[in-house]
Amino acid sequence: MNDKEQVAKHAARLVRDDMLIGLGTGSTANFFIEELARRMHEENLKIRAVSSSVVSAIKARDLGLPLVSADQISRLDLYVDGADEVAPDMTLLKGRGYDLVREKLLARAADQFIVLVDQGKLVSRIGEKFPIPIEVMPFAWQLVKRAIESLGGAGDLRPNAAKDGLAITSHGSLVLDMTFDATLDGGELDARLNAIPGVVEHGIFHRLAHTIFVAQDGRIEERHAQ
Ligand code: A5P
Repeated sequence: MNDKEQVAKHAARLVRDDMLIGLGTGSTANFFIEELARRMHEENLKIRAVSSSVVSAIKARDLGLPLVSADQISRLDLYVDGADEVAPDMTLLKGRGYDLVREKLLARAADQFIVLVDQGKLVSRIGEKFPIPIEVMPFAWQLVKRAIESLGGAGDLRPNAAKDGLAITSHGSLVLDMTFDATLDGGELDARLNAIPGVVEHGIFHRLAHTIFVAQDGRIEERHAQ
């Protein structure tokens, strides 16, 4: 069993009857969805799930998990997802996929937001390994880019997978992938990006994670928010 699978199985043990569970997106979240479906079928668990992306909705439906749509919920018991980076203060970087609006909504609405990572995702600051994805309204992208550059950011619109056009999110937004000076910490960047008109959402998840499960060398370390 690899680290991602191990940490996903660890998280799936927390699921109980009658829970409404948010399903994340990515390879680690996929292991969680598979284990959740296995437990539901084998233990006859009565659960409902809401997905953070079209991709995880398709996977969940294929495995027989009962799905409710995000517009029908006002809260969640549990949201389980991966992350691209985890800083020492438990700020996260997410959104290498295209659905960070739904991911952040579910993270905020969950009584427990549990993040699953392996050791390689731990960084000393947000933005250490990846640019920050910033989802923007298409007509506003130049104005937003200028505003971000005035904060010291550098970068450009994300290309699509074929590199013959631009990446477009499931809500029709464009994505700016921006790097920042190492002196700006995740919390400060979060506040500054939130204040720019035309930004739909961005990939910094500050003070949202309740628990982080870190898989390292065959063990799982649990980190809890203070
Ligand atoms: C999806 O938009 C991201 O936030 C993922 O949660 C993140 O990229 C983690 O993916 P892996 O589990 O595949 O590493």
